[in-house]
Amino acid sequence: MVEKQDTANRGKVVLAYSGGLDTSVLVRWLIEERGLDVIALTVDLGQPGDLGGVRLKALETGAVDAKVVDARQIFVTDFLVPAIWANAMYQGEYPLATALARPLIARLQVEEARRQGASFVAHGCTGKGNDQVRFEVACAALDPSLSVIAPMRDWKMTREEEIDYARKWGIPVPVTVESPYSVDENLWGRSCECGVLEDPWREPPKDAYEWTNSPEDAPDEPLYVEIRFEGGLPVGMDGEPLDLLEIIGRLNDVGGEHGVGRIDVIEDRLVGIKSREIYEAPAAVIIIKAHRDLEQLTLTRDALAGKRTLEQRVSEMTYEGLWFSPFNSAIEAFNRTLQERVAGVVRLKLFKGSATVVGRRSPNSLYDLGLATYDAADVFDHDAARGFIELWGLPLKVWAKSEKESEGGF
Ligand code: ARG
Repeated sequence: MVEKQDTANRGKVVLAYSGGLDTSVLVRWLIEERGLDVIALTVDLGQPGDLGGVRLKALETGAVDAKVVDARQIFVTDFLVPAIWANAMYQGEYPLATALARPLIARLQVEEARRQGASFVAHGCTGKGNDQVRFEVACAALDPSLSVIAPMRDWKMTREEEIDYARKWGIPVPVTVESPYSVDENLWGRSCECGVLEDPWREPPKDAYEWTNSPEDAPDEPLYVEIRFEGGLPVGMDGEPLDLLEIIGRLNDVGGEHGVGRIDVIEDRLVGIKSREIYEAPAAVIIIKAHRDLEQLTLTRDALAGKRTLEQRVSEMTYEGLWFSPFNSAIEAFNRTLQERVAGVVRLKLFKGSATVVGRRSPNSLYDLGLATYDAADVFDHDAARGFIELWGLPLKVWAKSEKESEGGF
């Protein structure tokens, strides 16, 4: 614990600040209980909301400084690019929007702490989730000299006590009925949990979803989209060159309209709890589907097999807070090399909740019609197949023979 310090020589803390009730109460708590000057850092990752208002609220609540950083482009370049290369999906289902954002927020906190000469960073995560691990392990990896304060984990205030505390210090408490869910959003997806969703048997009510239409309400006509890839990344859509940030925005819109990207899963948290989560991630689902398909067309079988096992490790390390690990960086370098060949166009059909790849082409295609066709154009050497099978099956043939011979014993 830090002792209260006199105002002339107060310590500083950089708080990851969202503007919600929890982090607003935290501002005051860090001032009163820990005697620190609070620098509120709000990171724009494409989540909705008025971030200018959030900044003012931090200052009104007592922060000595409040910053809003537009980190959308860095999020794309440094986090989503490697995630796309790795087709990152935790347990095969969750595109990791929240998990990818945490190490970036931590990195920005660490940078701000250095600029401001702060020796503390703080976050508003609880003690039951993954995010506390991601923040703290990322901070430790980037600057082991910083100390992390996690008041939400330690103070154990109830919701009512928190509201009382807020009222006492004149912190605005939302008057509107708050969402019954706990939601985290950025441009890669929306995560939603709590409330009635805690019953894993119960179908999510309509209001659990915000980005996507239900398949029933989606248009009756399918929409075809064509995504152009270069170096394993989307560089255009429907014939128009676009940057990745723009493509993600457009795919979230059209995918959401067609009900694509709804995910309802039971997921294993790092702290050992199973939880029920709802995600909406139209762009992530579409891009990863298209990207995987293009890899199947352009990479060799052995490269794909090796890559798929590493992909799973990337998803796990991302989920488990190990983003800034040497192993993760090494896999990124491996993927970077292979992705040079992953270029071409993938055509998908979006229809009532599904995104299906219906066409793909590439200048680096390994698909050879002469080899694949059953028509007269066939150039495959059928006679070679006979010899191949002979040798391929040889070990099993030898084994079966030996088993038969040893039946009578030695
Ligand atoms: N379970 C997800 C994860 O650990 C999302 C958690 C996001 N938080 C929320 N309030 N829904 O990455």
